[in-house]
Amino acid sequence: MCKRYPPIVKNAPRFLHGGDYNPDQWIKWKDTIWKEDMRLAKLAGINVLSVGIFAWAALEPEEGKYAFDWLDEILDLMAENEIIAVLATPTAARPAWMSKKYPEVLRVERDRRKILHGGRHNHCLTSPVYREKTTAINTALAERYKNHPALGVWHISNEYGGECHCPLCQEKFREYLKKTYGSLDALNEAWWSRFWAKTFTDWSQLESPAPQGETCIHGLNLDWMRFTTEQFVDFYLHEITPLKAITPDVPCTTNLMGTYPGFDSFRMAQVLDVVSWDSYPQWTGTENNAEAGVWASFTHDLTRSLKGRPFMLMESSPSATNWRPVAKLHRPNVHMLQSMQAVAHGADTVQYFQFRKSRGSAEKFHGAVVDHEGSENTRVFRDVADVGKRLAGMDAIRGTGTPAETAIVYDWHNRWVLDDAKGFLQNKTGYNAAVAAHYRAFWQQGIPVDIIDSSLIATPGHLDKYRLLVAPMLYMIRPGVAEAVNAFVERGGTFVATYITGQVNETDLCFTGGFPGPLRKCLGIWCEEVDALYPEDSNNLVWNGKSYEIHDLCELIHAEGAQVLGTYGSDFYAGRPALTVNNFGKGKAYFIAARTVPGFLYDFYRKTAGDAGVKPVFNAELPQGVTAQVRSDGKTDYIFTMNFNPSPAQVDCGVQGVKELAPFETVIIERPSGQHDRSSQ
Ligand code: GLA
Ligand code: ZN
Repeated sequence: MCKRYPPIVKNAPRFLHGGDYNPDQWIKWKDTIWKEDMRLAKLAGINVLSVGIFAWAALEPEEGKYAFDWLDEILDLMAENEIIAVLATPTAARPAWMSKKYPEVLRVERDRRKILHGGRHNHCLTSPVYREKTTAINTALAERYKNHPALGVWHISNEYGGECHCPLCQEKFREYLKKTYGSLDALNEAWWSRFWAKTFTDWSQLESPAPQGETCIHGLNLDWMRFTTEQFVDFYLHEITPLKAITPDVPCTTNLMGTYPGFDSFRMAQVLDVVSWDSYPQWTGTENNAEAGVWASFTHDLTRSLKGRPFMLMESSPSATNWRPVAKLHRPNVHMLQSMQAVAHGADTVQYFQFRKSRGSAEKFHGAVVDHEGSENTRVFRDVADVGKRLAGMDAIRGTGTPAETAIVYDWHNRWVLDDAKGFLQNKTGYNAAVAAHYRAFWQQGIPVDIIDSSLIATPGHLDKYRLLVAPMLYMIRPGVAEAVNAFVERGGTFVATYITGQVNETDLCFTGGFPGPLRKCLGIWCEEVDALYPEDSNNLVWNGKSYEIHDLCELIHAEGAQVLGTYGSDFYAGRPALTVNNFGKGKAYFIAARTVPGFLYDFYRKTAGDAGVKPVFNAELPQGVTAQVRSDGKTDYIFTMNFNPSPAQVDCGVQGVKELAPFETVIIERPSGQHDRSSQ
């Protein structure tokens, strides 16, 4: 049952619409540009601007000498214009004086080269100097603006990422390993370090992975990613300490990056008050545009699921994204579609990078609300203003939840070890693509989905709200996961697993006693071997009288209690099981043994979701490239029907009739909650 969540910013029960804004680049022109910016912001229906990101050099031009006057002035202007400030800590880029005076703040790369000053997002997270400077500036900001009427949200740094291999970080990594394992004996065992004479006999021998050093201890590689995640968590907590002490009621966030591989976002989300992220879909505007739509929807669902509540779309491009290989313009309606899509999946804000284009440097051609031309007379400005207008009429949807009864598993630790695994298809196990393929089958049916990881599976009670749990390629089974999955199926849930499941434990050691390890009993199968196919090879899966193509990976399994639903069509394993179901307790556990084409997954989930009691938003099938996603407060469902095609589409919305959607159009339909579409039953 869905409920309504409180506003992200207290006393602002509206959708927030706005973006990153760098008034510090325009201080010399403040009398004209800043005033004009306020006028343009209001005209575009903008009520939030993120300021101070990358402003350290403007805020502290000399060590210990702060210059807050410009920020005072712009925040006052924003307050006068009823614009909420997402106020950033400036730590994502350093002033040059700091790098020069304290070289320890500069990172060391994986190959142990020390970087020079430059770029951004590249400070050492361990450096005591960097931490001290961060505390000082964050404290000064919080003290100065604690009572400022514009202050709404703290934006901590910007897009944490990368890693540092300096001596300070090496020492901290050793401490982390000591804390994790307690003894070298335990570490050696967890890392299987007798292999190639890797046994460690003193903690000082331990080093982070390096291309010219250690790369083949998979347990080490995994621990390094876990440590890097903890570094970001720890640095974030360090950054917010003064903010929480001085402004305890102001929510804090940092902008995440979808499936960015460098840290575990589920872990990071645990310390955020509200989750936010930066979304830059690669719209093609052509026939295959829906592929980008599926991925964007997946990443929105993932972001919402990190905390299971509405999130902030902190950045998106109002038009071209300059770092894409092809910086294509948004076709008419695409900007509205991209913005409504975020809201459909749980965003309570639509924000851009950025408000005004920077005149010089690396991002001068990135899409922005205000172009170099400077006026409101641009296509992009009008597109943004249209979104502002539409959001202003959507207050009832703000704060609503997502009534998902299906969860798909996406797990960073699993991804790290799969990417590291040597075997199967080297460097091409395709975890993201595999998860997206399963997700697509639900997207195309208009079934809302949560995306969860092993930590959430193992959280007591977390699976209670789901009827269907899908875990593509869950190669690593972390502690508590098998127990929770078993209990879920026993009490009536439906579980779907695939090829390459249950092969390694939480330190990347293979399970002995047969794959899929601790899921063997629940799935009722034993996976004996995995066959990898060359790109030009294929096999087929015969199910329900139909034959579906198979690529890449085929697992040779034995049914041990499971019923065989589908079989392989060719090769030496023709006739052997390729699709099984096991009745376990009151539920069912399916196993898809090979990588199939999307058509199979659509047919399979159409049937399996139906059998599990999971209903699509509309009874009638949706046209290709159209999805329907729902937000709900438990009383009213708001159904976002979105056409990702460059051509019109007709959607059968049941009792609401047939709607004709223009290319890239979004239509929002209201329906009482619980009243499922009965029209075509
Ligand atoms: C990221 C950053 C922004 C900007 C945009 C450009 O999301 O956070 O500062 O560089 O990319 O797309
Ligand atoms: Zn370091």
